[in-house]
Amino acid sequence: MMKQIPLAGVLGNPIAQSKSPRLHSHWLQKYGLLGHYVPLHVTDENLETVVRAMPKMGFVGANVTLPHKIAVMKFADQISDRATLIGAANTLTFKEDGRIFADNTDGYGFMANIRQNAPDWEPKAGPAVILGAGGAARAIIVALADAGVPEIFLTNRTRAKADALRAEFGARIKVIDWVQAGNILEEAATLINSTSLGMTGNADLRVPLDGLRKGTLVTDIVYSPLRTKLLTDAEALGCITVDGLGMLLHQGVPGFERWFGVRPVVDDETRRVVLG
Ligand code: ATR
Repeated sequence: MMKQIPLAGVLGNPIAQSKSPRLHSHWLQKYGLLGHYVPLHVTDENLETVVRAMPKMGFVGANVTLPHKIAVMKFADQISDRATLIGAANTLTFKEDGRIFADNTDGYGFMANIRQNAPDWEPKAGPAVILGAGGAARAIIVALADAGVPEIFLTNRTRAKADALRAEFGARIKVIDWVQAGNILEEAATLINSTSLGMTGNADLRVPLDGLRKGTLVTDIVYSPLRTKLLTDAEALGCITVDGLGMLLHQGVPGFERWFGVRPVVDDETRRVVLG
């Protein structure tokens, strides 16, 4: 029997805004591979039916985005340590025997983006400050702790969510009141915005940045616009800045490699193609 053309896709709701189809289609073309990667608009109630049908339709894997990253864990036969720790999955692989493997590559993408664009960054240099305590913050906390960051100051508008993450991820985390965030920045070796503030259509971050030291690494998970107000302000203060697009691009690498057999490279061309 002829081998089926491998399919992959991204499951979300909404999904039209996702840049993953453009990213993976570019890689398929660049490496001359047979395959297709499609956006899949899936409601909560249809998630299980869709995921269970995918391997039967020739899908070798899928990315998972909002709001399904937590719910999809229920349908996995095997879950990676990273996904278990983070409590969410963004990458599914359908094994030949039909079993579903769930992984989370968001923390990997976060770290690979920094390594590529701020190669001199030293995790052990000092504390990291994370703004926000949503799903993205969970992956970033795990990645930073793995990398050896000695201390994490976590601050969130809704303090209870930050307290819950501290209870879950441990004593390396100190929770700071949202209104006090500006006062902790002079201690930071790294500052990360994991909130949706600064995104086109949303309000800007209002945390006063003047305490930031020169040379502090400042990065944003927001990539639309690419240069957020946080990044331009931090740059003006002499900080090293890394935009959020690379996190998205790098989180796609492990899935693509598993599904299509080639480890894709993230470079300037990838950025240009995905930005369109
Ligand atoms: P994600 O999974 O992408 O992290 P999320 O779980 O909805 O998305 O988290 C969004 C983050 O942005 C949260 O930390 C949220 O703060 P709350 O927990 O207080 O909601 C933060 N955020 C969103 N809008 C905000 C605003 N206007 N001011 C401050 N923080 C905001």
